[in-house]
Amino acid sequence: MKFIKPFLTVLLSLAFFGCTKNEPIVFKDSSGEKYRPEYHFTPITGWMNDPNGLIYLDGEYHLFYQFYPDSTVWGPMHWGHAISKDLLHWENLPIALAPDSLGYIFSGSAVLDSENSSGLGTIANPPLVAIFTYHDMVAERSGSLEYQSQAIAYSMDKGRTWTKYAGNPVLPNQGIKDFRDPKVRRVTNTDGTQQWVMTLAVLDRIQFYSSPNLIDWTFESEFGLGIGAHGGVWECPDLLPFTSPDGSQKWVLLVSINPGGPQKGSATQYFIGEFKDGVFTADDQMIRWMDYGPDNYAGVTWSNLPIDQDQTVLIGWMSNWLYAQDVPTETWRSATTIPRSLSLFEVNGTLLLKTSPVKEMESLRSKSYSISSSESALPSQSSEIIADVSENFAIQLSNDLGEQVLISKENGLVSVDRSRAGSGNFHPDFAASFSAPMSWEAEKVRVFLDASSIELFVNDGELTITALLFPSKPWNKVSILSGATDLEIFALEK
Ligand code: FRU
Repeated sequence: MKFIKPFLTVLLSLAFFGCTKNEPIVFKDSSGEKYRPEYHFTPITGWMNDPNGLIYLDGEYHLFYQFYPDSTVWGPMHWGHAISKDLLHWENLPIALAPDSLGYIFSGSAVLDSENSSGLGTIANPPLVAIFTYHDMVAERSGSLEYQSQAIAYSMDKGRTWTKYAGNPVLPNQGIKDFRDPKVRRVTNTDGTQQWVMTLAVLDRIQFYSSPNLIDWTFESEFGLGIGAHGGVWECPDLLPFTSPDGSQKWVLLVSINPGGPQKGSATQYFIGEFKDGVFTADDQMIRWMDYGPDNYAGVTWSNLPIDQDQTVLIGWMSNWLYAQDVPTETWRSATTIPRSLSLFEVNGTLLLKTSPVKEMESLRSKSYSISSSESALPSQSSEIIADVSENFAIQLSNDLGEQVLISKENGLVSVDRSRAGSGNFHPDFAASFSAPMSWEAEKVRVFLDASSIELFVNDGELTITALLFPSKPWNKVSILSGATDLEIFALEK
């Protein structure tokens, strides 16, 4: 059955395209693939959540992800695997890591151990090392708190196959129930020496561990008490160096939290500060959110990107634990966000994180339309809309059934309203409007639409709102209700 279905899908979609060729847009097919995105990554079938082990090597971006191939709801976690040369076209590869007697394979990261500090490869052929959490369901069911531990696996063939380290776990549990999602990077200490640093989510805190070899880990410090949002458990952290606009070095600590996000359920907060010799110190007490939409969670960044690229690139899981397992896709569940390039910017004396679409997104633009009237047809269900906006603006997307999405800024609040945007009755919190405070001026918006999502970037990512959408028919009209000019629309094609 698994193999017959894609075949039927293709046949049905050919038939569907054939009989509707005069219509401007159609869903890709009518056989359960209705909401399948055109240019966002989705698993072929089954369940996906967090991106894992993001690493670039020899021209390939690796995307591993939390994957349960046998169902469209969460279950025994594997690391699924895909690779891409451009962050847009993904080739699916076999499952990289599967559960074993130590447990399910939860989220984590991957590094190139170029000096072979682990001894798992050679200097001439250094190993890729994945650092992940084992979640032992048997221990959890028995009532023990010690069911999460950190482990490693290595690959000597560019990530194609992985060997779990015989001495796992490398960081055993210490009686703490939430103890997971290791993100590892190489860090230089103030005395010039280097070490591996693991950033780990522990209950509603972050712990830092250091290691000379990715195998022996020493506790360094803890961050999070009395600072930031604490409405839920902290998960999937990332620790990133940036040059701030004034030229100084800053560190950003990304922390996903579930629940307790600004729109209910899951979201990602971040802290800006210093990281010195294993200790993170935040510059201030402010709570900052990376994305004000409901559907960007567990985002982490690629390791080992080429230095000359000077980019920090993140991808998130485009869903929310509130309703991720209920959304109306049939054969698969969940997509990633578009990849985003991270940087710091300053506004009114405050440093904030900017998350812009990566420049590769521009290569998807196929046809462009410059619109002068206030209403225009949308050429494709996969499109990018760009507009100059004034301080208050409102842009509406709609379809033939009168379903609509409103993007606006009014009284210092940027909003995406999906309360009348189609299917939403699968969860009481889905059909809603999502707002974000923006005390500075909005000048430009970029909107990415795909079959089941909207990603809004104000001023190229100074503020973002990411939201899933399940319209009954594709969006085919864009209307400027107020405050927007120089509208440009691109049909996006892979
Ligand atoms: C975040 C998360 C992680 C965990 C994984 C399990 O979405 O809960 O903390 O490792 O999902 O699938």
